[in-house]
Amino acid sequence: MLVLLVAASLAVPRSVDARVEALMRRMTLDEKVGQLIQYNPSQHDLDKLIAAGRVGSVYNLHSAEQATELQRIAVERSRLHIPLLIGQDVIHGFRTIFPIPIGIASSWDQSAAELEARVAGREAHAIGIRWTFAPMVDIARDPRWGRVAEGAGEDPFLGSAMAAAYVRGFQESSILACAKHFAAYGAAEGGRDYNTADMSEERLREVYLPPFKAAIDAGARTIMSAFDSLNGVPMTANHHLLTTILRNEWHFHGFVVSDFDAVDQLRNHGIAATPQQAALKAIRAGVDMDMVDGDYETLARAVREGLLPVSTVDAAVRHILREKFELGLFDHPDAAESETGLDRADARRVADESIVLLKNEGAILPLSKKIGTLAVIGPLAGSKRDMLGSWFAHGNPDDAVTLLEGIRSTVSAQTNVLYAEGCGILDGSDQDIAKAIETAKQANVVVLALGEAGGMTGEASSRAFLDLPGRQEQLLESIVATGKPVILVVMSGRPLTISWAADRVPAIVWPWFPGIEGGNAIAGVLFGDVNPSGKLPISIPRSAGQIPVYYAHLPTGRPANPNNKYTSKYIDSPSEPLYPFGFGLSYTRFDYSDLRIQKTGNRFEVSAVVRNAGSRAGVEVVQLYVHQRVARVSRPVKELKGFERIALGAGESRRVVFTIAPKDLRYWLGGKWVVDPGTFDVWIGPSSAEGLEGTLKYSN
Ligand code: GLC
Repeated sequence: MLVLLVAASLAVPRSVDARVEALMRRMTLDEKVGQLIQYNPSQHDLDKLIAAGRVGSVYNLHSAEQATELQRIAVERSRLHIPLLIGQDVIHGFRTIFPIPIGIASSWDQSAAELEARVAGREAHAIGIRWTFAPMVDIARDPRWGRVAEGAGEDPFLGSAMAAAYVRGFQESSILACAKHFAAYGAAEGGRDYNTADMSEERLREVYLPPFKAAIDAGARTIMSAFDSLNGVPMTANHHLLTTILRNEWHFHGFVVSDFDAVDQLRNHGIAATPQQAALKAIRAGVDMDMVDGDYETLARAVREGLLPVSTVDAAVRHILREKFELGLFDHPDAAESETGLDRADARRVADESIVLLKNEGAILPLSKKIGTLAVIGPLAGSKRDMLGSWFAHGNPDDAVTLLEGIRSTVSAQTNVLYAEGCGILDGSDQDIAKAIETAKQANVVVLALGEAGGMTGEASSRAFLDLPGRQEQLLESIVATGKPVILVVMSGRPLTISWAADRVPAIVWPWFPGIEGGNAIAGVLFGDVNPSGKLPISIPRSAGQIPVYYAHLPTGRPANPNNKYTSKYIDSPSEPLYPFGFGLSYTRFDYSDLRIQKTGNRFEVSAVVRNAGSRAGVEVVQLYVHQRVARVSRPVKELKGFERIALGAGESRRVVFTIAPKDLRYWLGGKWVVDPGTFDVWIGPSSAEGLEGTLKYSN
C-alpha cells in the first residue's frame, strides 16, 4: 500500500477546486509545467524527473509493478506528492479483447459498446491505469484509411451514440475517457494517415464534430487533439476548435492532451521553427498536456522570458489537477488490484452481435452441424493473432479462439473437418494453393476465411488498394473454380473490395476482427446457434475508385440516373456501393408495414410495424432516415436520425416509434444551427437503401 502523504501535507479543503487552488499556491513554476508533461516509460531519467515533480503523466506501462513503482516515486519522493495520471490505449479491450470498434459499431448496440468499455476499464484499472485514449470517435468515409478499424464508421448519428456509450462504460470503471482525435482526422485526403483535412464549417459541424459533442455530453473528461491540419491549421495549434468551440461554446471542463509527439510536429507542419515555438502555439491554442515529445519543458523558460503569461500555464494545470482530484488519485493513488480472469462471455456476446451477414443465396446458411465433410481454408482460418486486430493492449493472441477451433467445437462428432491454409495473408506458393484445391474437392462445403492481417489496420496503415492482399484473390478464384459451395468469411479492419466474390459465392459473412471469442462467434453464425443481426456502419465500395462513397451524400444537380448519360455517375461502374450503410441480413425475414406520422406540437412521432415473418427468432436494427426536400443549402439525400434494435420471436410484431424534434431537422448555416419549415421525407427500414416512405410538414 502506498504511504498516503498527500492528505497529511495539505489542509483538506472541501471542494475539488479549493483543493486545486490550495495545491497550486504551493507549486513552483517548474512543478506546474511538470504537470503538463506526459512521458512514455522509456524516457531517460524518468525516475529523477518524477521525483523532481516534472512529470504529470506516464503512458502505456507494461505492468502493475511498473505503475506502482512510478506512482510511489511521485507520491512519496516528490516535494508535493502529486500522483501521476497513468494512461494507456485501451481501445477494444485490455486483457479480454473484444471485436475491434468498427465491429462493435456493426452491432448498433450501445449496451455492447458500454459493456466492452466497462470490462476494459475494470481490467485496466486493476493494474493502475486511470485514463484510456479512447473512444476514437472520428467519422471515416474513406476505407483506405487504416483507422476506420478504430471508429464507428461513416455516420455522425450512429457515431455519436457509440461515442457516448463508450464514455459511460469507461467512466463507470473510474478511468478517464479520451475522445479522439479532435478533429476531422478521418477526413485525411487520399485516406492517407496524418494527411491534410479540408472542409467547410458546415461539414465539420454536421458530420465530424457531433460524436465529440456527444462524448463530452456523456461526461468525457479528456480530449486528444489530432495529427491533421484542418483548413491549413494543424489541430494541435487550432485555437478555433480547441478553445472557441471546445471551451467557450461547448463549455468543456476537462483537459486536452496532444497526440503522440504532435506538439513537436508543428515544426513539420511548418508553423513553428523550434520546440519552444511549437509549445507556445499548442498551449495558446488550448492543449493542456504534451504527449511524450517534451516540448512543454520549454514553457518555464518562456514564462521567465516573458513570452507566456503564467496564467496560461495555470489554466492548463488546473484542468489536469482537477481531473486527478476528481478521479480520487490523491486519496487512492495505489495501483495494482487483483487481476480478474478473462471475461469470455461478454466478449462472445459482443462478437455475436458484431457479425454482418452480407449474402445468403438460397439460404445456404446456416449449415447443418451434421454436414459430412467441411473444408476450412484460408490464412485467417487458423490465425489467433489476427483475430485481435490492432491496438490490443495487454491482450494475448493465445487467448483467441480461431475460426477453425470454433468450427471444430461446434460441428457434430461425425463431421469431418479438413483444413488448408491455402496461402499466407501477404504471400503464398502454388503448392499451398494446390493443396487447398485438393482439400476443397473432398468437401461438401468450403468455409473460406480471407482478409487482412490484424497488423494491417489501425494507425499508419493506409492502403491504396482494397482488394484481398497477397495471393488471396488467386486462392479465392481457385477454390470457387472447384465448383464447391463457398461460404466466404472476411476478417478485416476496413471494407474491402470483394465484387468478384460477391457475384460468385452464395454466402458472405463479415466479422471484422472479432476478438478472442471470434472463432466461436463466427461458428455460431455459420451453424445457426446465432442469428446474425449486424448492420454495416460504413458503406462497402465496389472499388477503390468509388471512394469516397457514403449514403448521406448531396443530390447534385444531376442525380445519378442509369438511363441518362448526363447525370452524376461512372461510365465503368455503378454509382452505389456494393453493400450500403445500415445493411445486414438475418436468418429470418422482417416485414415493415403501416408507416404512421403523428404531429404533436412541433414534434413528430414516426412509427411502423415490424414483423418477424420467418421461422426463427431474430434481432432487427430498425432505422429512421430523414431528408429535407428544399432548404437554403443543398441537404443530404438521407440522414440517419434514429435506430432501435428489436428482438422478435417468429411471427411476432411490434410497432417501433421514433420521435423527430426540431433539433433532428437542423443544419449549420451562417455560423449557427437553423431549422427550416418545409416538407421532409422520412423512411423507416432495414438499411439506408430501403424502407417505408412518408412525408411530414414542419412549420416553425
Ligand atoms: C498514437 C495515436 C493515438 C494514441 C496515441 C498514444 O499516435 O494516434 O490514437 O492514443 O498515439 O499511443
